[in-house]
Amino acid sequence: MNGMRRGALIVIEGVDRSGKSTQCKKLVDSLKAMSVNADLVRFPDRSTHIGGLIDKYLKQKSHLCDEAIHLMFTANRWEKKEEMERLLKQGVTLVVDRYSFSGIVYSSIKKNMKLHWCQEPENGLLRPDLVFLLTLSENEMAKRPNFGDERYENTETQEKVAKAFLDMSREQGDWEVVPADGTIEDVHKVLLERAVKKIAEVERKSIRN
Ligand code: TMP
Ligand code: MG
Repeated sequence: MNGMRRGALIVIEGVDRSGKSTQCKKLVDSLKAMSVNADLVRFPDRSTHIGGLIDKYLKQKSHLCDEAIHLMFTANRWEKKEEMERLLKQGVTLVVDRYSFSGIVYSSIKKNMKLHWCQEPENGLLRPDLVFLLTLSENEMAKRPNFGDERYENTETQEKVAKAFLDMSREQGDWEVVPADGTIEDVHKVLLERAVKKIAEVERKSIRN
């Protein structure tokens, strides 16, 4: 690495309307304000050809079987891998709005979709240095019912998703479960503090697959 410091790969996961996108943006802005080189990445990336197919599926303008759409979401991450690795090596910290864990959770709650089968094609993607899981209490979830029209944007699915994320968080290292009922600023403070620590901790370590 020629003495170059690498960036950290930081993922934010959670149910819809848990504030992921807001927190991702704020984290990137605060890091930049501290002169940390940082960039936002989000999945699905709807701007690619594969992302366009995913967008149509989510907007219920197309039908795909559960296996096919699962592999599309995964391919959408694979097609960004080289670029993400290059940026990390250049010292850019990437804040990622959803990653493999959304892929595995949203698919594996479907009937006949096995967890192991859903995990397999994610193997070999860049491994995050830190994953934040934003959680909402049931009370707070009930207060944020303003779902859009996309597939999965309904209470039944979101409850299953919330539970599956929590189950997953118990099996992983490098996860921080962050209750997100509080104000945007309170949650942001927690994320920023942990992120800054992690960036310093991994800057001399190699990127993980
Ligand atoms: P978004 O609301 O963050 O743009 O994500 C769109 C939906 O896609 C959301 O309901 C979660 C779902 N999703 C998957 O099913 N698999 C994936 O791999 C990803 C990244 C998202
Ligand atoms: Mg959404």
